[in-house]
Amino acid sequence: MGVEIRVEGLRKSFGRQVIWEDVSFSVPAGEISALLGPSGTGKSVFLKTLVGLLRPDRGHIYVEGDDVPRLEEHELYEMRRRFGVLFQDGALFGSMDLFDNIAFPLREHTRKRESEIRRIVLEKLDMVGLSGAEGKLPGEISGGMRKRAGLARALVLDPEIILADEPDSGLDPVRTAYLNQLFVDLNARLGATFLIVTHDVGTARVLPDNLGLLFRRDLVLFGPREMVLTSGHPAVRQFFNARREGPIGMAEEKDGVRAEGEVPPPLPIPPQLMPSDGRPRRTMRRPGAWLREHGVRPPPGSFIDDQGRDWMADWDLLKAPRAPA
Ligand SMILES: Nc1ncnc2c1ncn2[C@@H]1O[C@H](COP(=O)(O)OP(=O)(O)OP(=O)(O)O)[C@@H](O)[C@H]1O
Ligand SMILES: [Mg+2]
Repeated sequence: MGVEIRVEGLRKSFGRQVIWEDVSFSVPAGEISALLGPSGTGKSVFLKTLVGLLRPDRGHIYVEGDDVPRLEEHELYEMRRRFGVLFQDGALFGSMDLFDNIAFPLREHTRKRESEIRRIVLEKLDMVGLSGAEGKLPGEISGGMRKRAGLARALVLDPEIILADEPDSGLDPVRTAYLNQLFVDLNARLGATFLIVTHDVGTARVLPDNLGLLFRRDLVLFGPREMVLTSGHPAVRQFFNARREGPIGMAEEKDGVRAEGEVPPPLPIPPQLMPSDGRPRRTMRRPGAWLREHGVRPPPGSFIDDQGRDWMADWDLLKAPRAPA
């Protein structure tokens, strides 16, 4: 089962460069959350700080009773077993074939027999669509394949928390759609907590339960998808609607200097991606529930799928009935 990650007052700098000033939020247990932000806002640094590879200047990262920045090296080692991490560059060992790369955490952290390791590695390779590639070296495959191999390795210990840094960069749109479906299905099956960094606004609009935006040294907003996609915050509105109008400019150093102008209206909220079996996600609520509770009118055309079905009105019909226990 997934666990919550509670971040309090986190600050990080490198020398005189402050990356973020004061980040506080909770990544809800068992849900999928996505973190976005312009390039260079410290998303990768954030993930590395969560797993204790980088130390914050101050602040706390609570994973159940533990505060990650305050763990001793041997405690961190134990803690990392609970995390599956896909780094931005895949971080595969260049001299090992995919099989050995993916088997590595199993050999490092468990006493499983080679036959059991083989079964698990081949299962994970199949899951990410890399069956038959186990003998290849990372240098012999495409960037997208390396990403998927990194994901297979992140999943191999059945982690409670899965962190993925731009799992979809370098993937074509069809593979991105498959990958997003894989995340939803894994989340429904394992109940793990997911935190995904992405640049893909299309992904951000349909995949996560919660969304956050890092901008100008701060987490400007983090919350349920329906809240973020209807937020009037200029940077949030600009980013999640992929608009040119707004405070975010082309060059990072100019961010915030541009005239903010008028904030365009939010786009319709699409229905959330459902698990393949058609049953709702474990933590899924009725589409539009957050909006109704907060008195926010859905943007016109919201929750209508490609087939013209209205997920807000017809939720009870559209979610497939649960199989009897
Ligand atoms: N080990 C390090 N030492 C010094 N500076 C670093 C280090 N790691 C990252 N930085 C700096 O921290 C800032 C944030 O980097 P980070 O890689 O987290 O950005 P990002 O949001 O992931 O960007 P992108 O979307 O391009 O991946 C950058 O200015 C980077 O140069
Ligand atoms: Mg990054």
